Amino acid sequence: MDSIVVTGGAELRGSIEIAGAKNACLALMPATLLTEEPLTLMNAPRLSDIKTMTLLLQSLGSEVQSLQDGRVIAMSSLGPISTTAEYDIVRKMRASNLVLGPLLAREGHAVVSLPGGCAIGARPMDIHVTALEAMGAEIELKDGYLHAKTQGGLKGARVPLRFASVGATENVLMAATLAKGTTVIENAAREPEIVDLASCLSKMGAQIDGAGASTITIQGVDRLGGATHAVVTDRIELGTYMLAPAICGGEVECLGGRLELVEAFAAKLDEAGISVEETAKGLKVARKNGRVAAVDVRTEPFPGFPTDLQAQMMALLCTADGVSHLEETIFENRFMHAPELLRMGADVDIQGGTATVTGVERLKGAPVMATDLRASVSLILAGLAAEGETVVNRVYHLDRGYEHVEEKLGAVGAKIERVPGV
Ligand code: EPZ
Repeated sequence: MDSIVVTGGAELRGSIEIAGAKNACLALMPATLLTEEPLTLMNAPRLSDIKTMTLLLQSLGSEVQSLQDGRVIAMSSLGPISTTAEYDIVRKMRASNLVLGPLLAREGHAVVSLPGGCAIGARPMDIHVTALEAMGAEIELKDGYLHAKTQGGLKGARVPLRFASVGATENVLMAATLAKGTTVIENAAREPEIVDLASCLSKMGAQIDGAGASTITIQGVDRLGGATHAVVTDRIELGTYMLAPAICGGEVECLGGRLELVEAFAAKLDEAGISVEETAKGLKVARKNGRVAAVDVRTEPFPGFPTDLQAQMMALLCTADGVSHLEETIFENRFMHAPELLRMGADVDIQGGTATVTGVERLKGAPVMATDLRASVSLILAGLAAEGETVVNRVYHLDRGYEHVEEKLGAVGAKIERVPGV
């Protein structure tokens, strides 16, 4: 397993290209199952999770080609399509559950393994199941698999979500495009990745109103055509790289970044004394002066502060001037980065869903362990400002969601290198 070695202290200057959004691409790819015509995605990120989704779709019978060094994904699902998503692929990546809605819509039945828990929580699928049952699906859990079928196809319905689940919204949105009649999703997730999926489905001929708001209305159609769609910019990668100059000083322009993707996050950076400026090419971020100010953060569904930036924000607040409180409301166990930051000299106290972070002058480099995708990158960020050398192990977690992080940070002056595992 590779490691990444960071030597702290360098100020960062230059620009970083932000890639297409992993979490948009992972929802857009299963949409190929909704049509027999070609679906081509541009601006795709080059990540191991995308490779996993590629393998899953190919196992179902879709043709998926990675072109232009992974930036373009050309798909077609002429069929026949298998409707069983096997455990050994689904367990690697929860987003595999996003084939459930499209398979039900296309074939009228699906057998999809439950993803199983992961480092950050149990992550059940009850909201997905209740929603699809409201559309006429019969779903039962057997041997760790969801067995779903419909008599005569899915029907449009009112679908209230008990929580604004991103994945459940995406599964229902895709299923509803081919259902008979009108579907109204209430308390829908409002993330930009939902808007991006709806935009692509509309290009394929779907009738969708309200994506990005809490109520989305979908008028089912008989069939969908193909499309070519550019994946939206990754707001989580954007926020992550905005934190790099915030943590170790300097000024970095995040190319492709747009303020509306990270408004709540940028507001917290401003409160902490970090300047964020919109430029013609993206967002320019610099530390105004002196130490970062302590701030309180509460994660919420979009447009609130994203849970996927909580770990990275904690790394910044470890050296802030004062005491900060981070309340994680989305996942029940998303503080695995805290014990690793403690090893670097941070002062973090976890009580239930709240982390109290008392800023210290400076962290000290140490060997640390990556546990999940966003925790991994928070340790890299902490290493950028720490005294001495930080070795982040098990960086395969990192490669799931960040393209060549050592190249992007190295290009703006970070002392960082990847050490191949033995
Ligand atoms: C998506 O996961 C993202 N993944 C996650 O990003 C992100 O953290 C999450 O949304 C929240 O924004 C992808 O888009 C591929 P949810 P998803 O359904 O859809 C509970 C990353 O780092 N829940 O909104 O799985 C669930 O346990 C990843 O890129 C149920 O209880 O998230 C969690 O506590 C991590 N029952 C909360 O809701 C359900 O049926 C939010 O889950 C579904 C979810």
